[in-house]
Amino acid sequence: MSPRSDHHSRHGQTAQPVDDRLAFWARQAGELDWDTEWSEVLDWSDAPFARWFTGGKLNVAYNCVDRHVAAGHGDQVAFHWEGEPGDTRTITYAELRREVCRTANALLSLGLRAGDRVAIQLPMIPEAVFAMLACARLGLPHSVVFGGFSPAALQSRIEDAGARLLITSDGQYRRGRVEPMKANTDEATRDTPGVEHVLVVRRTGTDVPWTEGRDLWWHELVDVQSDRHEPEAFDAEHPLFILYTSGTTGRPKGILHTSGGYLTQAACTHRTVFGLDPDTDVYWCTADIGWITGHSYIVYGPLANRTTSVLYEGTPNTPHEGRHFEIIEKYGVSVYYTAPTLIRTFMKWGEDIPARHDLSSIRVLGSVGEPINPEAWRWYREHIGAGRAPVVDTWWQTETGAVMIAPSPDSPSFKPGSAQTPVPGISAKVVDDQGVEVAKGESGYLVLDQPWPSMLRGVWGDDDRYRQTYWARFAAQRYYFAGDGARYDDDGDIWLLGRVDDVMNVSGHRISTSEVESALVSHPAVAEAAVVGASDATTGQAIVAFVILREGAGGEVSVDGLREHVAREIGPIAKPRRILVVPELPKTRSGKIMRRLLRDVAENRQVGDVSTLADASVMDRIHAGLADAS
Ligand code: WTA
Repeated sequence: MSPRSDHHSRHGQTAQPVDDRLAFWARQAGELDWDTEWSEVLDWSDAPFARWFTGGKLNVAYNCVDRHVAAGHGDQVAFHWEGEPGDTRTITYAELRREVCRTANALLSLGLRAGDRVAIQLPMIPEAVFAMLACARLGLPHSVVFGGFSPAALQSRIEDAGARLLITSDGQYRRGRVEPMKANTDEATRDTPGVEHVLVVRRTGTDVPWTEGRDLWWHELVDVQSDRHEPEAFDAEHPLFILYTSGTTGRPKGILHTSGGYLTQAACTHRTVFGLDPDTDVYWCTADIGWITGHSYIVYGPLANRTTSVLYEGTPNTPHEGRHFEIIEKYGVSVYYTAPTLIRTFMKWGEDIPARHDLSSIRVLGSVGEPINPEAWRWYREHIGAGRAPVVDTWWQTETGAVMIAPSPDSPSFKPGSAQTPVPGISAKVVDDQGVEVAKGESGYLVLDQPWPSMLRGVWGDDDRYRQTYWARFAAQRYYFAGDGARYDDDGDIWLLGRVDDVMNVSGHRISTSEVESALVSHPAVAEAAVVGASDATTGQAIVAFVILREGAGGEVSVDGLREHVAREIGPIAKPRRILVVPELPKTRSGKIMRRLLRDVAENRQVGDVSTLADASVMDRIHAGLADAS
């Protein structure tokens, strides 16, 4: 066997040979219901554009809903939905099928046909799931936009995807208050002539602006439709959805996912990572459907596996800080999947809060979104998992579509803070600058060295950006560059170290420094801006901005005004924690901003090596200015 063979990694563990990996994925795909069998598992001839299960045809919504009803599970609960104000709804698989069919018939009545794009901005209400599945059923790629995004952010996503329909609601509940939604989406659709209709769910009963002819109430259009609809099978590579995510440049990228491979890996990982038993488990993923975690682990993976899930509309501390634990107790949740930022918030609120509830139903705990620090890992296991539930730390990305690295729930060695090993069928490596795998105990860049079924199929409308962003860094090896740093420990297990690019991770949300910088410089008073992510004990990172004001603007602009401006441009999640007004920014001779030095300032550290600065005294002037201001 040649030393470069796939059969042995440097670490002496036996990696899966390629043929076995493809056979593994073919078996996993076989768990789904296909209308037409595929002819080839993987076509990588046009790399980095992959085609999985070529020639195969299936209907994603049929796989998530109808087939379970056909198999006699119509009475099984698909969702226990909890509204923020305390209203509830129980949706069985039979009812889910009827709702999805009605919604699909409504979309057909609007003239939508396979391939048309639909934008969705909705709170965490059942209609969000019905809408996504109705789109999947009709082959309409959906683009779900997080409810917290600004009208400007929604508008650019609608335009980029060329959406014909927008589905939204009148308002949303947020920490006990009613907030407008339709008013915001109207602002977003003022200049988007491509949007022919806006379908509006009545959730809060608030008054909304209305455009006759364009706007339609969900309850008037959808509820009167037939609850029967014959699904059509689509090609395995038919686009399922576009989901926008921050990259290193200002404009968000539309990550494209397709049908057969995506559903195969979302379902398989959901089943294996949590050891899911559809007959006994009650599963709850606390993400919002506006993020990839909501797509893969609230909607597609769990439903393909006939899971009974909890779907919760509200925030964790409304009306009180025990709300999640109350819900776990009420429904007997056995698998709970959340983000480290929330775990750290629970820690801050205190362990006596979960202690007041019976959490004995918990069997497995999951974590996603950012590296989980060992203290949070231990607290999670101890206080939510009764000291015995395994904690599975799952590493993946919008681009990977599904979990890539995670310990198996019955793994004998749990390492707090380590995602450990690629899941079955997946291959990942930690490499140095040259793309050479690093030794045990060393760190480098995380790469995915083999294609995987739920991989992104591209960036919507921009093939070049897809190649440049993910495949140019290690082009010689044809490795996918994830943008994360990682380390092998002495056992060869993987530890994630955070982003190595200009993407920040705030409460598990990806926000690029340049996106926030663009928002800041779009304010008339700002001449220049540089943004860094400073470590934060609760949110992982906090956004800190350094701005240079325009001459004469000093008196008229407040730092709070600038923070609000960013919230309006992008959304409240992108609002900088701190904005420091500075006279200059540290730059290299080639004009590149040295964020490392700004990060030192933001984290109150001794400023590091300034020798590559064009003008080494800049940092002194920044410090002097900040001292004056305080
Ligand atoms: C980070 C979320 C460490 C990482 C599913 C990645 C993590 C980015 C983990 C993707 C984890 C996610 N450990 N880091 N378990 N999970 N990340 O696209 O930096 O919103 O590149 O997908 O989050 O964020 P995204």
